[in-house]
Amino acid sequence: MKRATLVVALFGASFVAAAPGSPAPTAPVPRPARLLRTLAHDPGGYNPERTSVVTDLLLGDFLFHSPSTLGPKAQKLGISCNTCHPNGATDPRFVLPGDRPTHPGSVDVTTGMFRSEAENGRVDPVNIPSLRGLRFTGPYGHDGRMASLHDFSQSVVVNEFGGAPLPWNELSALVHYLNDFDFLPNGKLDEKSRINAAAGKAAARGEALFEKPRKGFGGQSCASCHVPSRFFRDGAIHRLPVGDGASKHGFEDGFETPTLLGTLESAPYFHDGRFAALGDVVAWFDTAYALGLTPSERADLTAYLEAVGAADSPLDQRPLAQALDATFVYLELLASGSVKDDRRVWAAVSALCVEALDGAPRRPDLEERRLRDRKRLTDLDEKARAATTLDALREEPKELHRELTRYGADLQGAIAAERR
Ligand code: HEC
Ligand code: HEC
Repeated sequence: MKRATLVVALFGASFVAAAPGSPAPTAPVPRPARLLRTLAHDPGGYNPERTSVVTDLLLGDFLFHSPSTLGPKAQKLGISCNTCHPNGATDPRFVLPGDRPTHPGSVDVTTGMFRSEAENGRVDPVNIPSLRGLRFTGPYGHDGRMASLHDFSQSVVVNEFGGAPLPWNELSALVHYLNDFDFLPNGKLDEKSRINAAAGKAAARGEALFEKPRKGFGGQSCASCHVPSRFFRDGAIHRLPVGDGASKHGFEDGFETPTLLGTLESAPYFHDGRFAALGDVVAWFDTAYALGLTPSERADLTAYLEAVGAADSPLDQRPLAQALDATFVYLELLASGSVKDDRRVWAAVSALCVEALDGAPRRPDLEERRLRDRKRLTDLDEKARAATTLDALREEPKELHRELTRYGADLQGAIAAERR
């Protein structure tokens, strides 16, 4: 087994925590890479003992991963923000269980499934967007209906999932975290977002075609809307002849120019995911705007889009222990800061840690320890529910975090030893 497969095994686990004796997860699903600017600049980050900023980010990280954030119905289904936006990217396989059939990777956000008032009586799924580079890509929603990430996030929780409004400190922590998602590095672009030699000749020819003014666009070019120096978007809403009455909730009857970065992992394309491949998009523009491209120009333009949308390391390659600790570290929240007495957070942190333990690979010689740690987590949850004050419990999560960190390291070591 190669390391990449091992690492992602953890994330391929089912969303609902398995029973203690249940078999370890099989068939790993590759997950997209995780790139947070705070952790990239400070790999030791998320140490709550250091600064309140870090605690805030950790809280946001937890809220993003916890189904409890979205209210009881999502919690029952085990759906969190991270389910649809894994590591800030998008899950092209996601289908909302039990909802009207839509194609994978899209969701009908106006379904009555979570909140009956949200139902608009139509099947109108929209494509799940990537959240990478979110701080540069406002306004939000495919139709650009909201300028504020705070408003958008609160609306996801309340209007779409029927959850309770997040208190201000939680909303602000969540937005803080969302603003931390970065675009993945792409060695085919230079610092001015221009194609370099690594992208190849076809892409270089495609770049010139992308920038060429065209009659069909009223003298503009692809680059007028997808401005390379502005992350290949313009922050504006346009009415393309997409022919479906455009948006249901936007102020303007159109869609916002999406970034062209990261398209490698964000297929299918357009607000409704109607195009499976970048070549289909090029063909559509050519026809819809009578651009008159030759077959080889279409191919060059597609090669350019593929180079712009590429990523050097698209998959989550974190060593197992580090990936596990990204969840176990939530225990630190229980001992610190503003969530001190929030029992919902206590319960949700225990649940996420149990899920991570169950979802990780198993080793017979570590099984007793896994079950003991698991029991300590569920006991902690029970104690927190029963206690009148949580003060006496504060040391326990810290100690448990240390133990789980050791467990993760030992598990990784045992797997490495087995392969030698
Ligand atoms: C069931 C899948 C699903 C879940 C769960 C989900 N989202 Fe989304 N998200 C979507 C879809 C679909 C859209 C596109 C919505 C639209 O354009 O109207 C979207 C759009 C967004 C956007 C706008 C991105 C942009 O560039 O326009 C943000 C921000 C966002 N989601 C954040 C969140 C947060 C935060 C959570 C958890 C509180 C969350 N999402 C949970 C599916 C989901
Ligand atoms: C008038 C502004 C405008 C021009 C000119 C334009 N685009 Fe776009 N582009 C958009 C908008 C708006 C969308 C989103 C459409 C939707 O979601 O329905 C889009 C979507 C796309 C997408 C899909 C991205 C995704 O993640 O879904 C690609 C690829 C793309 N354009 C490439 C091009 C190319 C290549 C050209 C030139 C041939 C071009 N665009 C010209 C505004 C423009």
